[in-house]
Amino acid sequence: MSSPASENRSEATNGATVGERPDDMGSPGTSTPGADAVATVAGDGTTPVRHEQERLRRAEAMFAEPPLHYLTPLHASEEPYPADVLEQLRADAAQVIARYPHKRSALLPLLHLVQSVDGYVTGRGVHLCAELLDLTTAEVSGVATFYTQYKRHPNGEFNVGVCTNTLCAIMGGDQIFDELSEHLGIGHDETTEDGRITLERLECNAACDFAPVVMVNWEFFDNQTPESSKELVDRLRAGEQVAPTRGPSHVRSFKHVSRVLAGFPDGLADEGVGAGPASVEGTRLAREKGWTAPGADGGAKQGTDPSASGAGEDLEPGRHDSTNVPNEPDELPQTKEDGQ
Ligand code: FES
Repeated sequence: MSSPASENRSEATNGATVGERPDDMGSPGTSTPGADAVATVAGDGTTPVRHEQERLRRAEAMFAEPPLHYLTPLHASEEPYPADVLEQLRADAAQVIARYPHKRSALLPLLHLVQSVDGYVTGRGVHLCAELLDLTTAEVSGVATFYTQYKRHPNGEFNVGVCTNTLCAIMGGDQIFDELSEHLGIGHDETTEDGRITLERLECNAACDFAPVVMVNWEFFDNQTPESSKELVDRLRAGEQVAPTRGPSHVRSFKHVSRVLAGFPDGLADEGVGAGPASVEGTRLAREKGWTAPGADGGAKQGTDPSASGAGEDLEPGRHDSTNVPNEPDELPQTKEDGQ
């Protein structure tokens, strides 16, 4: 059975052979060992059938290492937005652009807006952003291809990112990725045939205290194992509502989250806890021991004793505040004058 990858490569190859690059593929000035062999065996390499065979062979060779991701549609820009969708997109984009003194600054949220409609950054989305922001399509594409949160081919409903950065990797992140990849039958940046899951390796999610971490549409699933991760994706594929370890009551779709990232809040930003016990372990320990951060004179600094200032009282577990505590360095360099 052919893999999704090979099927899509085949589609891309056929599409390009028929309509995209006939001159390049059939150019008599292009010499390859395969082309020579065909001409020698045939004796009349100009017959239509042999010419077509050679064009196909060259097309396959060209797309063996495609310049684009194999899922990237070759004709992404040809289908225009339906009128009602385009009208809504323009209205939403106008709101976003109005937030910035220079409209080109709205490019990042507008790319998320495109993803909230198309599921990835389509060619037509690139054209729309360029038109609305007075940019070239090359400038828009340059940004869209720089950041990994922007997808240049159809993304799954749930983007499952396994952190394989240093701490998560040594705590089992690589093992989780490998087992998930085998379980789902897809590799990095690939999507299951049902369109539910896109799997990818992620860099550090700033959640190292819960390593190894998996993120689904940028919601945290802490302290994962290969088994818990496989159960997670199975539940997502089965259509169950799945709750992250921290954050909202359940994970929303890629398109839903993309709209939030575009700047249209869904009201769930404060749902659930933002940090877990491991994140505030230092504060808990400091309170228990009566520790305080040193001040400039080496003594206790005013306002830095959490119990003395009242900071953090009446907070939900896992919440901390920084609004009533001066944001100063925890430690100052020791000097000879300190007698240390
Ligand atoms: S290394 Fe994985 S969250 Fe930091």
